[in-house]
Amino acid sequence: MAKLQLIRKHDIIERFMHWVHLVNMILLVLSGLQIHFPAFNVFGSMSTARFVHFVDMYVFFFVGVFHVYQFFATGKWNSAGPTPRNMAGTGAVIKYYLFMADTKPEYGKYNPMQIITYFLLFAVSAVMAVVGFALYWPVQLAVVVNAFGGLMTLRQVHYILSWVFISFSIVHVYLILTQPLKYTKAMVTGHYWKRAGG
Ligand code: HEM
Ligand code: HEM
Repeated sequence: MAKLQLIRKHDIIERFMHWVHLVNMILLVLSGLQIHFPAFNVFGSMSTARFVHFVDMYVFFFVGVFHVYQFFATGKWNSAGPTPRNMAGTGAVIKYYLFMADTKPEYGKYNPMQIITYFLLFAVSAVMAVVGFALYWPVQLAVVVNAFGGLMTLRQVHYILSWVFISFSIVHVYLILTQPLKYTKAMVTGHYWKRAGG
């Protein structure tokens, strides 16, 4: 019988934050879209949509700050950071995604494309927070408002960036669904079983 090896993939904090982030992201996108298109009335009134957005922007901010802390404090940097060791084999995974290779190469916690994508998403999240807080406190953060050439542009940038999150989420869920279910289960239980040598 093939030997099974227990792989512990995501710690409890990582899993908790991922699912809180998912629920929060849905609320941010829906409330944000209602603020942009008032006819897209999900929350009943504009004041409720704004209230939801304002509560969830703090959740977004604190989950982000905590994620950075956890990334360094628990050594997650070693397995999920864009280090030369984790980036080895980028070419092979690009070939796989371009349908130029049949089998998916083996990687550690995440493949290089995932690491880069999550990293870029984090960078966009930081910009989103700065832009969003400047919309919220335009007087205190006038430096940011002026850097973007005014409140109207800032609003447009915030709106356009929201599509980065929507697009990421669609592609992310699609790619997750193309992979064995055990990886999604691991985002709930923390672990999966791997056939030794397989
Ligand atoms: C810390 C993060 C965030 C902060 C501080 C923030 C803050 C704000 C503020 C103050 C507004 C203007 C509300 C109003 O005019 O009543 C706004 C609008 C909006 N937000 Fe956010 N937000 C954040 C994250 C997000 C995220 C992650 C998304 C979507 C993925 C999003 C999507 C939107 C959209 C679509 C609008 C409407 C923009 C427009 O007027 O065209 N926001 N946000
Ligand atoms: C139903 C929706 C979702 C499902 C089923 C899902 C599932 C997963 C799974 C299984 C992983 C681990 C990937 C692996 O082990 O290779 C993961 C990681 C990740 N997901 Fe999602 N996801 C969902 C929605 C989202 C959304 C909406 C976002 C953000 C906008 C997001 C951001 C991330 C990030 C940043 C990671 C890396 C996590 C870390 O290392 O802390 N996910 N997701």
